[in-house]
Amino acid sequence: MKTMQFHGTEKTLKSKVLYSLQSIKSLLVFAFCFCCFFSIYSPLLPVPGKIAFSQQSSIPFPASPTTIPTNLSHIVFGISGLAYTWDRQLHFNELWWRPGEMRGYVWLDKEPAADATWPETGPLFRVSTSNSSHLGNGRNASAARIARIVVDSYQAVLTDPNAAEVRWFVVGDDDTVFFPENLLAVLRKYDHRQMYYVGSMSESVEQDLEFSYNMAFHGAGFAITYPAAMELARIIDGCLDRYSHHYSSDHLIQSCLSELGVPLTQEPGFHQIDLHEDAHGMLAVHPVVPLVSLHNLNYIKPISPHYKTQHEAVKSLVDVSCLDPGRTLQQCICYERGPGFIWSVSVSWGYSVQLYPWAVAPKDLVKALTTFRSWRTQSLGPFTLDTRQLNLDWPCDLPVLFFLNHAARDGVNWNWTTTEYSRDLKQENGCKSPSSSEAFKVKTVRVKAPQMAPAEWKRAPRRQCCKTVRIEGGEILLVQINQCKPGQSSLSQ
Ligand SMILES: *[C@@H]1O[C@H](CO)[C@@H](O)[C@H](O)[C@H]1NC(C)=O
Ligand SMILES: *[C@@H]1O[C@H](CO)[C@@H](O)[C@H](O)[C@H]1NC(C)=O
Ligand SMILES: *[C@@H]1O[C@H](CO)[C@@H](O)[C@H](O)[C@H]1NC(C)=O
Ligand SMILES: *[C@@H]1O[C@H](CO)[C@@H](O)[C@H](O)[C@H]1NC(C)=O
Repeated sequence: MKTMQFHGTEKTLKSKVLYSLQSIKSLLVFAFCFCCFFSIYSPLLPVPGKIAFSQQSSIPFPASPTTIPTNLSHIVFGISGLAYTWDRQLHFNELWWRPGEMRGYVWLDKEPAADATWPETGPLFRVSTSNSSHLGNGRNASAARIARIVVDSYQAVLTDPNAAEVRWFVVGDDDTVFFPENLLAVLRKYDHRQMYYVGSMSESVEQDLEFSYNMAFHGAGFAITYPAAMELARIIDGCLDRYSHHYSSDHLIQSCLSELGVPLTQEPGFHQIDLHEDAHGMLAVHPVVPLVSLHNLNYIKPISPHYKTQHEAVKSLVDVSCLDPGRTLQQCICYERGPGFIWSVSVSWGYSVQLYPWAVAPKDLVKALTTFRSWRTQSLGPFTLDTRQLNLDWPCDLPVLFFLNHAARDGVNWNWTTTEYSRDLKQENGCKSPSSSEAFKVKTVRVKAPQMAPAEWKRAPRRQCCKTVRIEGGEILLVQINQCKPGQSSLSQ
């Protein structure tokens, strides 16, 4: 298998012919040896094919039943990093890494400089193994190094006599921000004793066309079960050689898993964010799945205009997510009816509120306003999510925007939260309609919501319902979120 090449790799016809002659020759030799071997040893070893694998075929962890829910101790993280940039990217990792609770390593290309200080609160580092022949220099070599992280992590567990049970290997980039409770909620849906490859494609169709719609993009993070990592470890060296013309680590992993017949299980809560400009349009309409990760945050504007740096803006989202992880970015839609007007209210919990001074149907409110451009060509699409054109020349088409500025648990009902969103003051009312002027009077949207029960993600997905009321002379819009009652819809008030 090791020398096997596929069409599509740069090979001359001559070498292809030579190659097939060689493979016929080796097949004959192999068949001959196999027969000798089999006739001598078959009574002892009825399945000779197993011999080569015997070293790794024992599973160190008796596959524990799914009745014990997966927790953080069952996950081994593998973060890709570079020795010379790690300290610059560190601030994204420290937003979510929980020392003592999480396991795993940052896999570096080489030892960090002798005088570099490695933070005690972050994950420990290891230097990637650079094993097979494709690891020369350059981009493809670095892709192969990163593709090996799952196997490097698996081998680190295998050689650690004190390793506790591992169910999943989760891989991400040094600038990936994970939301740990939501990652768990997603992984708990799947039986860790089987071979799973869970992640998500890119938002930019041009990226999916370049690689595959069935590839988990590395920066968004992806998860591979222990049994899948074990099979991957067996084939990785030959496999990386076969695809040494790939320049992207996630493409390599997908190619190898494809040899094993393991397809991608799509989970849209992993976000690669292959976008430019402002991701707000997308983050304001998160699908009804847990928010698992964010990535490429250095390439887009700070996600909230209330903050100067991206780090502060993302920190505010991470902080609020601790109050109610499952509800983070969950959208809810309701309508406020006033004298002679109707407003459409769309909340992205913990992040922002869009207030449209007219009636927009829910089916349109769940489409992302195109505040962003595609990754490669910076165009307005196509994307793998539904979008609505944002037209800045028509101020009456634009929603009034509010962003999170305060969050707390409810003093009386401990498992309710109050989050407040204040207007983006840079936004001016360019639309002279009475309804719009009334909407611009709102200074704060105050949202009360019960904590989302963890069991919510085991039910059929359903956007929750909300009700609105204007108070304090119209300066505050109160929104109360609840699970929809029988007979209730987004249009009920
Ligand atoms: C995670 O599950 C294991 C069982 O595999 C258990 O021993 C451990 O206490 C759990 N950890 C937490 C933090 O719940
Ligand atoms: C490197 O590859 C060789 C041959 O494929 C294999 O025998 C060896 O175990 C590998 N080493 C590591 C550290 O993976
Ligand atoms: C690296 O990848 C590029 C793009 O796929 C390919 O053209 C090139 O031949 C590869 N380099 C090697 C040394 O395989
Ligand atoms: C909220 O708290 C009450 C009482 O403490 C409890 O009965 C209820 O199950 C909690 N709800 C959630 C969603 O945790």
